[in-house]
Amino acid sequence: MKIISFENISKVYNSHSVALDSVSFDITKGEFVSLAGKSGAGKSTVLKLLIAEERPTKGRVLFDNQDVHKLPQRELPHLRRKIGMVFQDYKLLTDRNAFENVAYAMEVAGIPDEYVKRDVPQVLELVGLSPKANNFPHELSGGEKQRVAIARALAQRPEVIVADEPTGNLDPINTMEIIKLLVKINELGTTVLLATHNKEVVDSLERRVVILDEGKLIRDEEKGKYIIT
Ligand SMILES: Nc1ncnc2c1ncn2[C@@H]1O[C@H](COP(=O)(O)OP(=O)(O)O)[C@@H](O)[C@H]1O
Ligand SMILES: [Mg+2]
Repeated sequence: MKIISFENISKVYNSHSVALDSVSFDITKGEFVSLAGKSGAGKSTVLKLLIAEERPTKGRVLFDNQDVHKLPQRELPHLRRKIGMVFQDYKLLTDRNAFENVAYAMEVAGIPDEYVKRDVPQVLELVGLSPKANNFPHELSGGEKQRVAIARALAQRPEVIVADEPTGNLDPINTMEIIKLLVKINELGTTVLLATHNKEVVDSLERRVVILDEGKLIRDEEKGKYIIT
């Protein structure tokens, strides 16, 4: 079953920069898809269009068969709760510990306290961070901070985890640990869309790869490699 469709998506930010040029691809529920390409290829733009942070110049983006750019403004928080975002720079609250970072996101989403108390330890356990639940971001390594961010994304029980260069600030060992964690989350049933320019990451996954080059989709292969042109 299709969960996401990009249909002939073009995005022109201004006359000098065509960020995406007629990009089309679908994602099936349960897939793990890498969106690869050099810096500037258009990866982040694809993700921003999905969460309706940007509007397409042409084309449609469907999530659960709904055109995300036709949703009324008040429906956007609901869409975004179904899509757990993870970023290169973690975006943690510096004055809250790991537990509180996850809990805060749930509270903002309107999840009742009893569920927050039950679920935060569960997701921290899943990402392997239970022993550091009380640590503040400055007391965590880069890899650990990214685990908190992934726990926070998971806590809202999203249909998809969308990660934009989640290993961009990590060393090779932590990079592979975070990728293993994303694979585990995928195996537990969550669809994963991973944007990265890291060839080692994409090649080690041996899963579907969609490659963008200067805003064009140049490859889409099952169990592909990141072939850099
Ligand atoms: N807000 C913006 N305004 C103008 N140009 C932008 C904006 N965001 C991205 N771009 C341009 O769009 C292209 C694709 O950017 P981006 O989607 O961030 O690529 P990637 O994530 O693959 O590095 C680049 O040429 C970039 O400079
Ligand atoms: Mg980017």
